[in-house]
Amino acid sequence: MDHTNLISIRDPGPEGLGAIIRSTGEIKAAPGEYESRLKGKILVMIFEKPSTRTRVSFEAGMMQLGGNALTINREGTQLGRGETIADSARVLCRYADGIMARVNLHRSLFEMAANSTVPVISGLSNIEHPCQAISDLFTIYEITGKLKGTNLAYIGDGNNVCNSLILGCAIFGINISVASPEGYGPDKNILNSALAIAKKEKTGSRIIIGNDPAAAVKNAGFIYTDVWISMGDEGGREARLKAFRDYQVNMELLENAKPGCRVMHCLPAHRGEEITDDVLDGPNSIVWDQAENRLHAQKAILLALLGNFEKI
Ligand code: CP
Ligand code: NVA
Repeated sequence: MDHTNLISIRDPGPEGLGAIIRSTGEIKAAPGEYESRLKGKILVMIFEKPSTRTRVSFEAGMMQLGGNALTINREGTQLGRGETIADSARVLCRYADGIMARVNLHRSLFEMAANSTVPVISGLSNIEHPCQAISDLFTIYEITGKLKGTNLAYIGDGNNVCNSLILGCAIFGINISVASPEGYGPDKNILNSALAIAKKEKTGSRIIIGNDPAAAVKNAGFIYTDVWISMGDEGGREARLKAFRDYQVNMELLENAKPGCRVMHCLPAHRGEEITDDVLDGPNSIVWDQAENRLHAQKAILLALLGNFEKI
C-alpha cells in the first residue's frame, strides 16, 4: 500500500493530522487557490446509511477542487444483492482515485481498504466518524487558536463521533470529559488506545470518563453532544430515551458551565432529545459554523489523500 487511508482518525498520524487541520484553515481563507488541485480525479462514495452533510460536503468539495464525485447507495447497486465488499472495492478502485464509504460495520472499511489500490476514507461507521472529528478539531482551533490544553466536555452517547473525538483529543493534548449513562460509554478499545497515545506521545491530554454531566461541563470551553439514537441503534429506542433522560444539553446544564462556553453538535440534531431548541439556537451554539467547516476539512482531507500529502 503506497497511500494513506482514513478509517480511523489515528491513520494520518499526528503530523499528518496537524497538516490537514492547518490546511483546512488555508483552504477556507483562499478557496480559489485550490480550484484545480484535483483536476480529473474521481471520488466514488458508497452509502449504506443516509447522509446530508457528509455526502454534500464531499461532493461539493471534490467539485471545488476540480474533480468529480459519484454517489452509489447500497440498495441501488450489486452490493445490495450480495456482491461482496471486497469484490466491489477491487472494481471501484479501477474507476476512481478514492473511495469514501459510510458503512454499517467498521470492518467493512478494512475489507475495502485491503482490496483497493486507492485511498479509502470513512464517512462514518459504527465505531468512528473521523472526518467529523477532524473538522471539529479545526473548529476548536479556529476559535481558540490552539488545541493543546483546551477543555472539551462530551455529554451523551459514547458513540462513533465520541470515539473519534476522544482519539483526536489524545493526539492533540485536548482534555476531554465524557458523561454518559452507565452502559453507554465510549468503546473500550478506543479508550485504551487514546490513553496509550496520550501517555506514549506525552501530549498531556486528560481523558475522564464518567456519568455526571454537570461535573463534565464545569471547566469546559466546548460542550459537545450527539443523538441518543444513532443510525442502526433504533431497536433500543425506548431503553435509550429512558437511560439518557438526564443527559440533555439544556439551559440548566449550561448554568453549570462557564458563561462563554461553546456548544457543538455534529448534526443532525434531535431537538428536544439530546439538545433543546434554546441551546441549539442560542448564543453559545456554534453548530452552523461547525457544519460549514465539514466542507473545508473535507477538501483538506481529499487533497492530502487523493493529491499529495507533502503539498497540502
Ligand atoms: N454530521 C454528519 O455526518 O451528518 P450527515 O449524517 O448528514 O452526513
Ligand atoms: N452518531 C450519529 C452521527 C450521525 C452523523 C449516527 O451514527 O447516527
